[in-house]
Amino acid sequence: MTHIRGRFRKPADKIVAEYTASLPFDRRLYRQDIAGSIAHTRMLAKQGIISNEDAKKIIAGLESIRAEIEQGQFEFNIEQEDIHMAIESRLIEKTGEAGRRLHTARSRNDQVVLDTRLYVKEAISVTIKGLRELQRALLDQAGANITVIIPGYTHLQAAQPVLLAHHLLAYFEMLQRDIERFTDGLKRADVMPLGSGALAGVAYEIDREFLAKELGFSRVNNNSMDAVSDRDFILEYEAAASICMMHVSRLAEEIVLWSSAEFDFIELDEAYATGSSIMPQKKNPDAAELARGKTGRVYGHLMALLTTMKGLPLAYDKDMQEDKEGLFDTVDTLTSTLEVFAGMVKTLKVNAGTAEKAAGRGYILATDLADYLVKKGESFRTAHKIVGKLVRYAAEKGQSFDQLDINIYKRFSPLFGDDVRKINIKTSVAARDVVGGTAPRRVKQALAKARRIVEKD
Ligand code: ARG
Repeated sequence: MTHIRGRFRKPADKIVAEYTASLPFDRRLYRQDIAGSIAHTRMLAKQGIISNEDAKKIIAGLESIRAEIEQGQFEFNIEQEDIHMAIESRLIEKTGEAGRRLHTARSRNDQVVLDTRLYVKEAISVTIKGLRELQRALLDQAGANITVIIPGYTHLQAAQPVLLAHHLLAYFEMLQRDIERFTDGLKRADVMPLGSGALAGVAYEIDREFLAKELGFSRVNNNSMDAVSDRDFILEYEAAASICMMHVSRLAEEIVLWSSAEFDFIELDEAYATGSSIMPQKKNPDAAELARGKTGRVYGHLMALLTTMKGLPLAYDKDMQEDKEGLFDTVDTLTSTLEVFAGMVKTLKVNAGTAEKAAGRGYILATDLADYLVKKGESFRTAHKIVGKLVRYAAEKGQSFDQLDINIYKRFSPLFGDDVRKINIKTSVAARDVVGGTAPRRVKQALAKARRIVEKD
């Protein structure tokens, strides 16, 4: 800290130093910070701003500091305020005058946003890998249970039979949109900010394109003031993560429901379930519930940063230091959730028998009866009314459609014939033979298409 307190006569109060420090959490950025400093040093030497000799000392120093950190030998001192100062101070300790030249043509304001961009770019690629794994698990289950029929629900009331594979492929689609969102966000994270200085640019002949290339960025920012105060790329990651957690949370809720004794459509592998400390019979879907719960904190981080950024005057403001803990927690929460879910989905067992029995219960084939009448010439609205009355009659008698005598059907409409008996859950799904529908032939096509997408990378 002494390096940046030239104008002060006394050190910061201990409580202020602690309050303003980000070192306890931004130490996570040490790799990115060192990579940025090495590229910056190479550029300074190439441009003749520092000597090759000094550059060599600085780079060797930075590499040894990285090793110290990775071996747990680095002393993190909160008085250094943040990871940038901590590394630079140690470098000066190690290399003296050479180290004192590293911060030429640079500010912590462009440095911190560089580090965070490098971090987010990596996080995006890890996140997409996690999403792909979960997609693979869904496709494996869909393929392994391709003939299984379950009740499809609206309002959580049995609505129409669907293939389980069709239901699972709906989640594939959600995750595919998530991948697209993260991939799109990468375009805006992939912008190199060094050279923006504190806010106005720097007064040296630097080579920004060289820095971009060294650090793996596809372009440099246009405006230095925007560069040091833009946190959109973090917000975009958090927004995409929020939507993604919402998807996973819906899947979590279905896993919770489906693994209950009341549904019993699936059984979780023992490795993915937990017991109760008092009730010996319990096999709880804790991991699914937790994912549902953790969605709240991910939304919270998005809302927190949106609120932090709101109304900040250009350019850098210390408020922005609040971006990091939420970002790190979002990445940790999302990537671990995806990993757990891939394993949980891959290992769960489908109880095809119970699921199909549930799919045939109640009056789930009522739409098919209406469609039957329509095919015999009735208008849909009239057919809907006729079958509605038939349902009421059957419900009052406590009978299923199967149990009703054919003459009863005929009382409701003369169009009913013996062939109405042929309607069952299999003919019901097979009839939905449209693009995007649940007919087995369509679902198999959709599954093959999804597999090709997943195998492409
Ligand atoms: N720790 C700071 C942050 O995370 C780094 C930038 C500090 N810049 C400054 N002018 N204080 O935002």
